[in-house]
Amino acid sequence: MSKGKVIVTGGAGFIGSHTVVELEAAGYEPVIVDDFSNSDRRVLAGLERICGREIVCHEVDCADPAAVRVVFEREGAIRGAIHFAASKAVGESVQIPLRYYKNNLGSLITLLELMAEFEVTDLVFSSSCTVYGQPDALPVTEETPMQAAESPYGYTKQVCESIIGDVVRAQGPLRAVVLRYFNPIGAHPSAAIGELPLGTPDNLVPFITQSAAGLRGPLTVFGDDYATPDGSCVRDYIHVVDLAKAHVKSLDWLGGRGTEPQAEIFNVGTGRGASVLEAIAAFESISGRKLDYSIGARRAGDIEQIFADVHKVESELGWKAEFGIEDAMRDAWNWQLELKA
Ligand code: WQD
Repeated sequence: MSKGKVIVTGGAGFIGSHTVVELEAAGYEPVIVDDFSNSDRRVLAGLERICGREIVCHEVDCADPAAVRVVFEREGAIRGAIHFAASKAVGESVQIPLRYYKNNLGSLITLLELMAEFEVTDLVFSSSCTVYGQPDALPVTEETPMQAAESPYGYTKQVCESIIGDVVRAQGPLRAVVLRYFNPIGAHPSAAIGELPLGTPDNLVPFITQSAAGLRGPLTVFGDDYATPDGSCVRDYIHVVDLAKAHVKSLDWLGGRGTEPQAEIFNVGTGRGASVLEAIAAFESISGRKLDYSIGARRAGDIEQIFADVHKVESELGWKAEFGIEDAMRDAWNWQLELKA
């Protein structure tokens, strides 16, 4: 017995595709809505390999109301929606801010309007720890005040959270969970799906695996003169499969809530910080390879350190990260080797 259809916007992306797998495993019926502007169609074959069936996918711009309406009309009864579709490169957002505002705000507004029209009440929204900026105190809780965004990308996440809150306050029949991700890394243990960054990776882990695989030159560590134990930046690296499961938990949790409009925010991390140099050491340990890297200048916009206080997500959502950074590095490396095969 299906637990109902779930619209997964951006479901062909890194976190979206891993969430599709966990939705399927939990008895939901995921429906992907993705324009493949920042994802690769190869993921659909990987999903079919893992799920044992073809996952419905609508190739649609999520910020195009007419196109998304057709999806709602065709899919009929929908249990809820998980909204991943957004542009997410911090540096790029500084270069082309209007595209980020149009896509990230437009796609959420389109989804919320159609959810209200088709009486779909439950939303899980993909937010990010980037809304905190450089927090004054660590670990960050959900009550840690947001600071001025460091990029248009980060600002779109802050505005989207406000949009959701305003719709709830206006008594829109919306029940929402906002998940503030820390740093998603890794891949599915099957190596059938994983991260497929288009072009040169901005993010640390895909650069590490591509460099180790000989697809890139040496890694540059962006600064080792921070006020951290080893001088390199600290992040809360969370396995993408753990993160995917938090979305399923969120839908289940909403299903048990009262029908009044509501929005709840959760930090989704491991609660443990790891430095760039520690991440490199973890990769070297699981791969048995020595990574070629050098210390370079700091990267503009980087914060020094951030990691999550996870008491709320563990106690209220009943979710806890099961994997550590070594597990994520193992799966990321296996995925890289699969890609090269
Ligand atoms: C991690 C650390 C870099 C590359 C961003 C977004 C965040 C989320 C995840 C979307 C930093 C260092 C990196 C390299 C390096 N995205 N690094 N050399 O910047 O923490 O977070 O991606 O939701 O919202 O802000 O992730 O992986 O880019 O960097 O030294 O070649 O690795 O300086 O300290 P980041 P990242």
